Amino acid sequence: MDISLRAVTKTFGQVVAVDSVELDVPASTLICFLGPSGCGKTTLLRLIAGLETADSGSLLFRGKSLAGVPERERNFGMVFQSYSLFPNLTVEENVAYGPRCRRWPAADIDARVRELLAMVDVENQRSKYPHMLSGGQQQRVALARALAPKPHVLLLDEPLSALDAKVRRTLRSEIRRLQQSLGITSIMVTHDQEEALTMADQIVVMNEGRIVQEGPPAEIYSRPATPFVAGFVGSMNFLDVAIIGENRFNFVGHELTIDRSGIRTPLRGKAVIAIRPEAVEIARPAEKDRRRKSGNVLDAQVDWIEFLGGKCLLTLAPLSCPSQKISAEVPARTVHDLKLSVGSRISLILPPDAFNVYPA
Ligand SMILES: Nc1ncnc2c1ncn2[C@@H]1O[C@H](COP(=O)(O)OP(=O)(O)OP(=O)(O)O)[C@@H](O)[C@H]1O
Ligand SMILES: [Mg+2]
Repeated sequence: MDISLRAVTKTFGQVVAVDSVELDVPASTLICFLGPSGCGKTTLLRLIAGLETADSGSLLFRGKSLAGVPERERNFGMVFQSYSLFPNLTVEENVAYGPRCRRWPAADIDARVRELLAMVDVENQRSKYPHMLSGGQQQRVALARALAPKPHVLLLDEPLSALDAKVRRTLRSEIRRLQQSLGITSIMVTHDQEEALTMADQIVVMNEGRIVQEGPPAEIYSRPATPFVAGFVGSMNFLDVAIIGENRFNFVGHELTIDRSGIRTPLRGKAVIAIRPEAVEIARPAEKDRRRKSGNVLDAQVDWIEFLGGKCLLTLAPLSCPSQKISAEVPARTVHDLKLSVGSRISLILPPDAFNVYPA
């Protein structure tokens, strides 16, 4: 393990910013801390960087305690949200800063700067000052500056959040490719779930100073451990149900059968079942009756249609309980083929394998 945290806690007055965190970061992986504002992501990153000191617990780098090792000596590179370049230094001076502080020979610094500027594709900006660069270019330079002294670990705090959507998407894949080609252990903080899902090897979901779930993106997405994770990562329908059997539930007068793999905690009385909008299907007229026999089919009315380009987001009101809305994300083609509009009656299918069930 490159970085290990054992029962790390950090408080600011009454606020417990980081609460008994246990974490292992394997070498060469990219880990994302994901969670809502104020959940302790930056504090946790700053503790690892050595910019904050933990109240209790221990931090290890490759098995050795980091206690008493100041930030400078950890050799961890850092990239912040924005405005982190030295405004009075040019691009190349910014990138050369770390190696210069470490008293590298001039020729090595020169070669390193050249290499990095090429790597992040800002070679032709080398003599400019930060204020002459776009936000995306500034973050490329910030990345080059962080990588210049060959850090053991790269720490990124919302490096893309100040950029517009298109630049963000490009830089996402560039950072990921760079991280993989260098094999550098990296931790990135984000509150953007899409960013975490597309970039991370492992996602660490945080809430109120604690880690609530940790796993590869696909697992976090398909098997969220709690309703909080389910609602925070992607969109989710939450349906209140009564339990009528081991894996059978009553939802607004309809019986739903759910695959046992979706039920991972003991349940009593009531439960909440969660299904992603893209898992909700609209029955074609020809298959309606056949599907009805297999259950999990509800009649509903289309309340609203939102056009999203290739897809449409439908808000559906079950006929037996119109106030319990269900969102369905379907190909725009389906809406066109079935001639759906607001007020259309449809049958929706809730596939048994698409649910996660939580205690109410
Ligand atoms: N230096 C500080 N002094 C006092 N309280 C602090 C300090 N730094 C952080 N906090 C508090 O600790 C908690 C966690 O803050 P932190 O900055 O780690 O959250 P975050 O997850 O990074 O949020 P965001 O997504 O908004 O950046 C918050 O309640 C915050 O107000
Ligand atoms: Mg933060």
